[in-house]
Amino acid sequence: MQRTLTLTRPDDFHLHLRDGAMLTGIAPESARDFARAIIMPNLVPPVVTGAQAQAYRERIRTALPGADFTPLMTLYLTEASDSADIVAAHRAGIIHAVKLYPAGATTNSDSGVGDFDRVRATFEAMAEAGVPLCVHGEVTDADIDIFDREAVFIDRVLDPIRRAVPGLRVIMEHVTTADAVAYVRGADRGLGATITTHHLIINRNHILAGGIRPHYYCLPVAKRETHRQALLKAATSGDARFFLGTDSAPHADPAKEAACGCAGCFTATNTMPVLAEVFERAGALDRLEAFVAHHGADFYGLPRNAGQLTLERQDAPVRFPEKIETGAGPVTVFDPGFPVHWRVAAG
Ligand code: NCD
Ligand code: ZN
Repeated sequence: MQRTLTLTRPDDFHLHLRDGAMLTGIAPESARDFARAIIMPNLVPPVVTGAQAQAYRERIRTALPGADFTPLMTLYLTEASDSADIVAAHRAGIIHAVKLYPAGATTNSDSGVGDFDRVRATFEAMAEAGVPLCVHGEVTDADIDIFDREAVFIDRVLDPIRRAVPGLRVIMEHVTTADAVAYVRGADRGLGATITTHHLIINRNHILAGGIRPHYYCLPVAKRETHRQALLKAATSGDARFFLGTDSAPHADPAKEAACGCAGCFTATNTMPVLAEVFERAGALDRLEAFVAHHGADFYGLPRNAGQLTLERQDAPVRFPEKIETGAGPVTVFDPGFPVHWRVAAG
């Protein structure tokens, strides 16, 4: 049995770091294992301009004194976004992508896009300048069942955008369905997808069977088991279009454990050990490095990291903290629901 695994230091291509006391409390959880992360812009108010992204990047750096961690910033696309500002911020190295949230899709997405024709010119400018588009792929229509929203989004929104602006590089964020995996596989170029840690592990039974478990509720919501299997197959396949974006999305426990609980799983603390266990069980430990450290960097046109991360296997299950205490309240760490034998080796 393999006991140690040394990887290129990984990147997280979809991360929520929040702001203020929550940022200070949870940012070290990502900086410990990851070299870089694509930082989601869904603050309140959202990060819309290059100047706001630059200021947010400074706040992240301040929260991580001395850490070897590079935040890769994104802008939140609105119908009023300024293409020239987006392109200038990208050229200046302040941002690495723009995030499209359909209006009302998820946490803090009220400023998102309702009418896709109104951002068409921005997509064209981004394609021209090589700015990638990260997409939250769910329609928000009240008459579409929540379990169908990703598949419907592909047909009604994503495919038309990609046909209209073929030069646009798109990342389908946190894919949750076999439909999305098939769509990415069928694209000839310019399309990648992130897969989260938790969607490789949970299906909708984990949220709903035998009692409601708010810490497994995230968006897009986990689907049925066949979809989880499709995600696992994609992540462990070696296909360079699939890469890790944890979507680690902290909310303080009272906001999760409520009559109307927030969406988001917090996986930053234990993602690498949990993924090692998942890949080992799938007989694909040799493909973990590409998924967490090569494919995403290559898709974004970033150099692969020079540093390394070593994981060690032990016989006894590893214990992770149940919660991270922050100035904004306690945040429950994702529980994969099975023993994890891997841990990150010191230094
Ligand atoms: C995210 C959040 O809390 O910001 N929640 C989630 O369930 N993933 C928003 C998002 O990425 O959809
Ligand atoms: Zn997210």
